Amino acid sequence: MSESMQGLKRSNYCGFINKDYIGKEVTLMGWVHRRRDHGGVIFVDLRDREGRVQVVFNPEIGPELFQKAESVRNEDVLAVVGVVNARPEGTVNPNLATGEIEVIAKDLRILSSAKTPPFYIDDEVDVDETVRLKYRYLDLRRPVMQKALILRHKAVKVIRDYFAEKGFLEIETPMLTKSTPEGARDYLVPSRLHEGEFFALPQSPQLFKQLLMVAGFDKYYQIARCFRDEDLRADRQPEFTQLDVEMSFVEREDVLTVMEELFKRLFKECLGVEVKTPLPRLSYQEAMDRFGVDKPDLRFGLELVDVGAEVKNSQFKVFTNVLEKGGQVKGINAKGCAHYSRKDIDDLTKLAGIYGAKGLAYFILTDEGIKSPITKFFTPEQLEAIVAKLAGEKGDLLLFVADEPSVVAASLGHLRLELGKRLNLINENEFNFVWVVDFPLFEYNAEEKRWVAMHHPFTSPRDEDLVLMETEPYKVRAKAYDLILNGVEVGGGSIRIHQRDVQELMFKTLGLSSEEAQEKFGFLLDAFEYGVPPHGGIAFGIDRLLMLMAGRNTVRDVIAFPKTQSAMDLMTQAPSSVAMRQLRELHIKINTRENK
Ligand code: AMO
Ligand code: AMP
Repeated sequence: MSESMQGLKRSNYCGFINKDYIGKEVTLMGWVHRRRDHGGVIFVDLRDREGRVQVVFNPEIGPELFQKAESVRNEDVLAVVGVVNARPEGTVNPNLATGEIEVIAKDLRILSSAKTPPFYIDDEVDVDETVRLKYRYLDLRRPVMQKALILRHKAVKVIRDYFAEKGFLEIETPMLTKSTPEGARDYLVPSRLHEGEFFALPQSPQLFKQLLMVAGFDKYYQIARCFRDEDLRADRQPEFTQLDVEMSFVEREDVLTVMEELFKRLFKECLGVEVKTPLPRLSYQEAMDRFGVDKPDLRFGLELVDVGAEVKNSQFKVFTNVLEKGGQVKGINAKGCAHYSRKDIDDLTKLAGIYGAKGLAYFILTDEGIKSPITKFFTPEQLEAIVAKLAGEKGDLLLFVADEPSVVAASLGHLRLELGKRLNLINENEFNFVWVVDFPLFEYNAEEKRWVAMHHPFTSPRDEDLVLMETEPYKVRAKAYDLILNGVEVGGGSIRIHQRDVQELMFKTLGLSSEEAQEKFGFLLDAFEYGVPPHGGIAFGIDRLLMLMAGRNTVRDVIAFPKTQSAMDLMTQAPSSVAMRQLRELHIKINTRENK
């Protein structure tokens, strides 16, 4: 049964009705959250995007309407005309924004009836995410999901208002374009008119925003959709949204300050949270040394401590051999974990092993002294010095890894995060920002046996390091910066190269011949000959930022229609096969496994 809404006009959102409306007539339209029959009285919780309100159907409404009220089911769409009443004493619901009132119904229409949904529409759902994604339109009805998307809307509005006030221009850049390399695989779009040729969907607007600077727009921003065909994780989607920013005539501090002010405003207006500025800055090297990662979660300590000096004269060959080869020995103090069982320690050893550690040495600090299979290799003075360096006390468990620096960092860095969680050291209500600066410009890609850009090839080296580009590229530091929030990389950017010769040198160091550079990036190199302002910028992952602001564990919860971990849309069943005719028009022949 479905009735027309003709003649009725919604007067209010369900969730906004309060004591001020007592005695007034309202017309509400929304979904049946729940119906309860209470001995001759029917209660319906009616829900819309702003919340829910209790509607009461008394027998006085008349037999026909009362019967209709008896027939409504969860998720039916209703129009209700009624009068707002104070709830009788003892029935006030302090957990509901509208809990002090109820609406006594005078008229009811069922605008649309609903099948029983595959899961109950409520904040807590005990259902597999694949079901939620298949019926996303039902999943999105859940109040938490509505709140998350409303928060996202608010945040983007604050961002737009902020940049408009600061004199930035929002300019769109193309979706069908030549690939803009950010290190991931491109999504390709075949061209019908140009046989055998392809557009790429942008991985970011990087080159276009730089060309907008060459064009003189000076301050640009865009809420830009980006596409990257990479392995997905909880904080990665194949299409995602960046707040993309670029400015001319600026240095690093100018960019950081503009963004810090934005964050201050964003967190204040959207969450009522004060962000203290300037935000702390940490060099890449310090982040790696102390936390083992370039995106440290600073909500807790458990720092990595170098014990190289303390162990170098010991008899423990595992440690001394590593040191002789230029490696490191570092430890962390798992506070209060002396009670860990053999199995607990084995589990941690396995975790360290995932990141390349060949073992995990440990000291258990007990009343009877240090328990460890390796104490015999150290003098009492050496033991004392190691324990002191890690501020070890009775009851603590000290864990050590000896290896090349990258393995020590990765394994202890991940152990640190695991222990932070296990030991409940993380304050979930804290927003901890830190800028990581002075990244290396290059990193070595062992698979491809060549230097690759750590950020992207348009990042400027620090002026004083330019001379090292050709001779010692691993020493060159970049004018790059990342913003880390609670251990998640929410943004990254740099001051750019704006000189053709430096850009060419960069491509050369990356192993591109000048023909390849011209073929791929000729338009940029050409533009660099017509007067280029020094410029720099940054891009933020809006999805990641909103995930953290909304307190969710995955970016999927702040995207209306996300893809799964295997890059599929379970609701529309995309990607899907297409008609032969479409393929022919695109000059494409499919080479599937069967007909290979
Ligand atoms: P970068 O590649 O670091 O820089 O991307 C900027 C920010 O975008 C977010 N992000 C993602 N979010 C969700 N899913 C993904 N697959 C994904 N990939 C990246 C991250 C990241 O910090 N053009 C440069 C920026 C610049 O130099 O101005 C760029 O794209 O939060
Ligand atoms: P082994 O000499 O191999 O029996 O190792 C003795 C102890 O040192 C064990 O607890 C190992 O887990 C640990 N160990 C071995 N290799 C390393 C390493 N590279 N770093 C830290 N501890 C190690």
